[in-house]
Amino acid sequence: MDLLTLAIETSCDETSVAVIKNGREILSNIISSQIDIHKKFGGVVPEIASRKHIESINNIIKEALNTAGVGFKDIDLVGVTRGPGLVGALLVGISSAKALAYGLDIPLIGVNHIEGHICANYLTHERLEPPFTCLVVSGGHSYLLYAKGYVDYELVGRTRDDAAGEAFDKVARALGIPYPGGPVIDELSKRGNPHAIDFPRIFLEDNSYDFSFSGLKTAVLNYLNGEKQNKREIIVEDVAASFQQAVLDVLVDKTFRLARENDSKKIVLAGGVAANKGLRALVEEKGKKEGIEIFYPSKILCTDNAAMIGSAAYFNYINGKESDLGFTVEPNLGL
Ligand code: KG4
Ligand code: ZN
Repeated sequence: MDLLTLAIETSCDETSVAVIKNGREILSNIISSQIDIHKKFGGVVPEIASRKHIESINNIIKEALNTAGVGFKDIDLVGVTRGPGLVGALLVGISSAKALAYGLDIPLIGVNHIEGHICANYLTHERLEPPFTCLVVSGGHSYLLYAKGYVDYELVGRTRDDAAGEAFDKVARALGIPYPGGPVIDELSKRGNPHAIDFPRIFLEDNSYDFSFSGLKTAVLNYLNGEKQNKREIIVEDVAASFQQAVLDVLVDKTFRLARENDSKKIVLAGGVAANKGLRALVEEKGKKEGIEIFYPSKILCTDNAAMIGSAAYFNYINGKESDLGFTVEPNLGL
């Protein structure tokens, strides 16, 4: 029997609602971005995000149902992001999801946003199954893990300071690029020389799977200040390409090392930075050489969306992980 999930994602600056069939098929995935409102502040303003979610959530729920061609009576399960994220923003989604689950008398699943990013891959790759090695890189998180099952993860490494996407955004800001700068750095990199500036690759201790990006960010800022003081021309494309290459070298090296250690023949990328064309190309090239199959979500499913939350909710539900109505927001939830 088919199982339809209505999923809600409001952890940051996207109000998103999706209808997902059996955890794998997208019937609708409405994403309303607030980015233009936050852009002028250089980042997401939490209070504004909460207010905008409240204004739009009901209409987006209706739109998701209409697009999917279903009504409330057809929905079997409600899924919602319970964390990590902005507390006020998360609460808007959680309150709506609880009201729906209670009113329709159907089960509710509180989803970990990071698990959602991983599950975005199940929507893009129909036959992808665990186990696999997984790199989750977004604006808020950088995790290296081994997915043993659909809801069973062995966390192996994490960032000790900035997340990968955060480093992209901060370097972009220093280059005068508006938030979120990651996609622009990606585009500029294509026209720059990745070997023009020798930025540090921070691998930490031998055998560590953790990441650290704040030293690299500082190195870029110091480089820019030095060039400005000496009145030398800054070639933005070269700075972007050299910075991006330094991030990718570390991400890719550690991911493949973990895959080799686990004798894993599948590598899965997830999160906003998984949209990075340089990362995708590098991982695919290395995957071909090492006989490892590479997976990443379609571009729209890399960044925040409710479809990935619907997929994660489904896999949690069929593995017996139902939430009760008493659960609350967890802004600092880890994987
Ligand atoms: O997953 P996401 O939408 O939000 C979080 O859960 O954090 O990720 C957004 C992050 C931002 O930092 C953005 O700059 C970065 O992903 N990003 C990229 C690219 N597209 C989005 N970074 C590098 N290259 C890209 N093409
Ligand atoms: Zn995210």
